[in-house]
Amino acid sequence: MAAAARTALVLVALLQMTAVAVVRASHVVYPELQSLEAKQVDGTLRTGYHFQPPKHWINGPMYYKGLYHLFYQYNPKGAVWGNIVWAHSVSTDLIDWTALEPGIYPSKTFDVKGCWSGSATVLPSGVPAIMYTGIDPDERQVQNVAYPVNLSDPYLREWYKPDYNPIIDPDSGINASAFRDPTTAWYGPDGHWRLLVGSKVGMKGLAVLYRSRDFRNWVKAHHPFHSAQTGMWECPDFFPVAVAAEEGGSSGQNRRRHHYRRGVDTAALRDAAVAEEVKYVLKVSLDLTRYEYYTVGRYDHATDRYVPDAAFQDNDFGLRYDYGDFYASKSFYDPAKSRRIVWGWANESDTVPDDRQKGWAGIQAIPRKLWLSPDGKQLVQWPVEEVETLRGKHVNVSDKVIKNGNYFEVTGFKPVQSDVELAFAIKDLSKAEKFDPSWRTDAQALCKKLGSDVKGGVGPFGLWVLASGDLKERTAVFFRVFKSNDSSHVVLMCNDPTRSSYESKIYRPTFAGFVDVDIAKNKQIALRTLIDHSVVESFGARGKTCILTRVYPRKAIGDDAHLFVFNNGDSDVKITNLDAWEMKTPKMNTQQ
Ligand SMILES: *[C@@H]1O[C@H](CO)[C@@H](O)[C@H](O)[C@H]1NC(C)=O
Ligand SMILES: *[C@@H]1O[C@H](CO)[C@@H](O)[C@H](O)[C@H]1NC(C)=O
Ligand SMILES: *[C@@H]1O[C@H](CO)[C@@H](O)[C@H](O)[C@H]1NC(C)=O
Ligand SMILES: *[C@@H]1O[C@H](CO)[C@@H](O)[C@H](O)[C@H]1NC(C)=O
Ligand SMILES: *[C@@H]1O[C@H](CO)[C@@H](O)[C@H](O)[C@H]1NC(C)=O
Repeated sequence: MAAAARTALVLVALLQMTAVAVVRASHVVYPELQSLEAKQVDGTLRTGYHFQPPKHWINGPMYYKGLYHLFYQYNPKGAVWGNIVWAHSVSTDLIDWTALEPGIYPSKTFDVKGCWSGSATVLPSGVPAIMYTGIDPDERQVQNVAYPVNLSDPYLREWYKPDYNPIIDPDSGINASAFRDPTTAWYGPDGHWRLLVGSKVGMKGLAVLYRSRDFRNWVKAHHPFHSAQTGMWECPDFFPVAVAAEEGGSSGQNRRRHHYRRGVDTAALRDAAVAEEVKYVLKVSLDLTRYEYYTVGRYDHATDRYVPDAAFQDNDFGLRYDYGDFYASKSFYDPAKSRRIVWGWANESDTVPDDRQKGWAGIQAIPRKLWLSPDGKQLVQWPVEEVETLRGKHVNVSDKVIKNGNYFEVTGFKPVQSDVELAFAIKDLSKAEKFDPSWRTDAQALCKKLGSDVKGGVGPFGLWVLASGDLKERTAVFFRVFKSNDSSHVVLMCNDPTRSSYESKIYRPTFAGFVDVDIAKNKQIALRTLIDHSVVESFGARGKTCILTRVYPRKAIGDDAHLFVFNNGDSDVKITNLDAWEMKTPKMNTQQ
């Protein structure tokens, strides 16, 4: 087992380097690299506590009999892209991971050319089913189902595929080259199962709806569940979220007394009463732009249509789980802790030769608990609490004022693999720069224009992470506050990696999102950043705006990586509290 697991690790690394910056549909193939064995693995920038080495996107993570299962896309032959199987790891706590043999791999005509992404559904009997996209001999994308061979095995090591597959064929109205990633199925009060498959027609992204009585015979609905002019939809995810109780609610709202942060299982939707008191989220991954967006809305069980609330932009300008490097995410309901967890994949942004050199590529973001904010305006995410068990050596700072143009180093611990939480207090907003309304549509461009070295009124203030001692290498995570008029402010959260590395060939886009906070009222804003060698994963305003970025410092590595807090704005800011922890390294896909 030990040898097998290690081999798997190296093979994934190989496959990864053949597949930098690509999608299944528009895959870049490097034939000359595909069968080159990685001679060694360079661990310099390898992450410590982020899951690796998965590839591309997640396949239906799930919880079964006391174990979390993560399936991920993987090519065990390291050959041409197309031998995709579902690699499989298990964990009791989402922290320590054990690699198992692949769960699903090409073995039948209906998946002979690949087993692509999909989702798990736990049936009312407790049996988990996996729906996935298979590639048939004609290169058509078809949807298949698989079941565990041995339900008493909590590891769910072996899966079988009934001969009645595929359960969903692309009919004449569907482009068989753009038809993939089935969602977790849900069961309606009318006794029918439903699931969605991502697709497109021309420039229209589609979530195609299928219904079934028996989980075996699936019929396409006459109308798509939802669509928008965004290009192909990959990895659709549809799930309910709890709505916060209304203040002073009457007895009729008893059911809503639950805490709004708890998750809701899609299985609960068979109960019409539950279905009445939740909101729904539809998330899609945009194949064209390589980012995701979501809307929150209503779902009418009778007409089987999803209608986003008017306040949500239902296109490329929509809200995102993460404004950085985060794609093909999947959520799942965790019955052990009654929460919904979302997991995303972050690719590398260095070069293919770099990936060859380091022998690995691709990580998963930290699993995040996800819920609807009490005002219903957005989703909020926070690293699962288990991450805190990795916290080791602790340092803190409090009540420290940082004046215009000043910065200081947080010392006494090793920040290269750390968890940093802090809050900035802002007393005076009078110097905030004027906000140009045209900036509203493009936070990323604004962040590029006004980077961390461009002086401002209120901000930029924030962290320089993975910084060299001389500050020549540094990645900035910061806020900037603008005034849109006398009574209203706009807060920008920005990630600026333009100085992250001496290496000039690395792709280093600025990433940014606006933060929905009333800064004039709160007078402070919080930031948490998970630093892990080549990952900087930040949560602004307690999870309202998240940004993950990959960086590749040359000097700021190991013990030479430093952490600073800076303020380049005219107004003073005060750190009310800063807590920082070194993070331990968990067991990451080692032997069972
Ligand atoms: C992956 O990395 C490249 C940069 O190398 C980027 O252009 C691409 O959009 C990234 N993201 C995804 C989801 O593929
Ligand atoms: C099924 O799994 C259980 C638990 O791991 C094991 O004891 C049993 O031998 C397995 N059955 C078969 C037929 O492999
Ligand atoms: C079907 O999808 C493929 C992959 O995106 C695309 O190349 C092709 O043009 C599409 N065909 C039609 C008829 O739209
Ligand atoms: C810093 O943390 C320690 C525990 O590690 C605590 O005892 C102390 O009160 C904290 N100090 C400040 C200033 O927050
Ligand atoms: C200030 O801007 C906000 C947000 O753009 C707007 O809702 C509000 O009406 C404006 N107030 C005034 C006094 O113009």
